[in-house]
Amino acid sequence: MTQSLHEIADRVYPDTQHTRKPSSYLDTYQSLLAPFQGRPISLLELGVHSGHSLLLWREFLPEARITGLDLRDPPENITGLDNVSYICGRQEDSAVLDATSAEHGPFDLIVDDASHVGRLTKASYLRLISHLKPGGLYIFEDIAASTKLPDWPDFAPMTKAPDDGDRFPSYDTGMIGALKQLVDQVAVGSNVIESLVFFPSMAVLKKVGGT
Ligand SMILES: C[S@@+](CC[C@H](N)C(=O)[O-])C[C@H]1O[C@@H](n2cnc3c(N)ncnc32)[C@H](O)[C@@H]1O
Repeated sequence: MTQSLHEIADRVYPDTQHTRKPSSYLDTYQSLLAPFQGRPISLLELGVHSGHSLLLWREFLPEARITGLDLRDPPENITGLDNVSYICGRQEDSAVLDATSAEHGPFDLIVDDASHVGRLTKASYLRLISHLKPGGLYIFEDIAASTKLPDWPDFAPMTKAPDDGDRFPSYDTGMIGALKQLVDQVAVGSNVIESLVFFPSMAVLKKVGGT
């Protein structure tokens, strides 16, 4: 019987791993990824760190081809694994993203767990969305980094009430700003985005098409 993501995470992440995906994320992923189980899909994760999330995906989606991209050297725990590839590069580097997509795409699932900086997140999205298959999911993690963490590179606290001025100051900055621009596209009708759904600290975009 297939193990749950929680059970797999308990096994693959050491207790001390601070980048372990939070429990609420695992709940969300459990339902999002279930339809992809047993299929030879292709998954790209931006942001690998210790490699444990790639091990998590690999166990939950054993038929999948998994690609991780990070600016760091590859972690040892994923070296030599059959269905796991590693790209050393920056998430905002369009040449790296194009080469990665040409070799490993198109993707059924793209997870952005890299910088959590709005302009870098947006740069990756704009480059990768054409390499996401119809009906595929583009998942943004830690979407509140720039509104909650004062030392974040694009920190922009939500200090105003919605009716104090014409809009929240976070509209143009941080990941929330980038996502609000996508909300605008959905609101007026997009031929790229079928839906954009928000979960605690995560957003999940579904591309139009597919079955
Ligand atoms: C939160 S950790 C990833 C954790 C991993 N996905 C997990 O769940 O175990 C974020 C990673 O993003 C990488 N990163 C930060 N900025 C980046 C950038 N501009 N391009 C590529 N990787 C970046 C960092 O080196 C770090 O390893």
